[in-house]
Amino acid sequence: MEITSVLSQIIYGESQMLPVSPEELLESIRAGLAVLIMDPDFLIPIGFARIHPCFKTNEKGESVIAALELGSVYVDPAVRGFGLAKLLIKALVKDLTAQYDQGSVPKVPLFAVVEASNVPSLNLFRGLGGWIEQPLSPEETNNYTEFWIGGVNIFEGWGKPSVIFWYNENNERHC
Ligand SMILES: CC(C)(COP(=O)(O)OP(=O)(O)OC[C@H]1O[C@@H](n2cnc3c(N)ncnc32)[C@H](O)[C@@H]1OP(=O)(O)O)[C@@H](O)C(=O)NCCC(=O)NCCS
Repeated sequence: MEITSVLSQIIYGESQMLPVSPEELLESIRAGLAVLIMDPDFLIPIGFARIHPCFKTNEKGESVIAALELGSVYVDPAVRGFGLAKLLIKALVKDLTAQYDQGSVPKVPLFAVVEASNVPSLNLFRGLGGWIEQPLSPEETNNYTEFWIGGVNIFEGWGKPSVIFWYNENNERHC
């Protein structure tokens, strides 16, 4: 089976992760916006993270990137707690910085959404450095179904109590 199909199934089985199709995963990998670690036999995904562009239509009717979401962060249960997720995210953000410099990705807000009950993931982002936490209430987000970034409702169809983390090396918040 294709690696992206295996990974998609694994992510589907993780209750605190947003399901993602094999095609979407492949798109992120092809765009150079994903980090994947495989086992030595290249059969099992051990670690994964990706940056997903959120598109909006501008005044000219063109589809443009309004924001970037870092997500689908996954580490195989057998190797959790060894700093792999930290490594994946840092590598991904470093790569993104290079893509900014080349002009292949626009400098738009970079964020991550973490379900409020996902303690390992909350601690992960709190300890990374450069990520600013913004707690969100049900009132301000219409029960976590509405949160707009650059003209895109990133909570459409979501509805789970969540916290948002903004990436900013200089510790400035975008919203
Ligand atoms: C969340 C997840 C990616 C962390 O992966 P990991 O490789 O074990 O994380 P790391 O070893 O890099 O840990 C980094 C930090 O996260 C926190 N953390 C990791 N596991 C934790 C746990 N079980 N309990 C509490 N904090 C935890 C710690 O603060 C840790 O830093 P420290 O080691 O300096 O204390 C992994 O548990 C996972 O795949 N979970 C299921 C999928 C998921 O929830 N993904 C996130 C969606 S937003």
